[in-house]
Amino acid sequence: MYIILLGAPGAGKGTQAKRIMEQYRIPQISTGDILRAEVQAQTELGKLVKSIMDQGKLVSDDIMIKIIEKRIQQPDCQNGFILDGFPRTIPQAEALEALIQKLNSGKLKVIEISVPDDEIIKRISNRRVCRNCGKDYNLLFNPPPPDNKCEVCGGEIIQRSDDAEETVRKRLTEYRNKTAALVEYYEKKNRLYRVNGMQSIDRVFEDIQKILESNGH
Ligand code: AP5
Repeated sequence: MYIILLGAPGAGKGTQAKRIMEQYRIPQISTGDILRAEVQAQTELGKLVKSIMDQGKLVSDDIMIKIIEKRIQQPDCQNGFILDGFPRTIPQAEALEALIQKLNSGKLKVIEISVPDDEIIKRISNRRVCRNCGKDYNLLFNPPPPDNKCEVCGGEIIQRSDDAEETVRKRLTEYRNKTAALVEYYEKKNRLYRVNGMQSIDRVFEDIQKILESNGH
């Protein structure tokens, strides 16, 4: 089973990808997490992408395709994977198609989680994450502990550097200009399913489960 989660920044892709991973035992591949780990480790790639990410822009297709090509060849991807944050452009989608063709035959389902912009700004500006393990907190419904230390690993809880409101607006513009076209791209290929992201996290997951367990497409 190959799953792509599409949706604007903050639509809930990462939240749902983790649930799918637990339920169906296939790995979540978050390109944002992969890039943030490179930034944290101050690798050459991390140094290159940091300012691009902080400006809310997309990293180049060449870099992203190489990252995904390497990642999906790992043994844990044999029974499928969940892509969260990839593809984000038509060239990325075309490259992915070629890569998937080389793997075992499996079903590709693309799920778009839709959420209006004002809700996105609200969710992202209240998001906090552990600097160390990436665990997600949200000031609105799952606030960090009073000592601001992660309950999983004790790491410091911070706001992502690209989660400032001005940067989120730029990320939304990038999404509209470069990524939203993928909805139509996958619709034409008869791979697209839509989920209303303006529901509780549990409800969104129930809708996703129905899609994954249906025999359609
Ligand atoms: P990335 O990390 O992929 O960021 P994003 O797509 O902007 O997505 P987010 O992680 O912000 O949001 P999400 O949809 O996962 O939402 P979440 O579940 O956290 O990318 C970062 C950057 O890396 C990009 O800007 C780009 O520079 C670069 N990059 C990455 N991939 C790339 C690629 N392929 N090509 C080029 N560049 C690339 O939820 C958000 C908040 O809302 C959380 O606090 C959560 O708890 C809460 N929430 C979730 N669901 C609900 C709900 N149903 N109700 C209420 N609150 C909810």
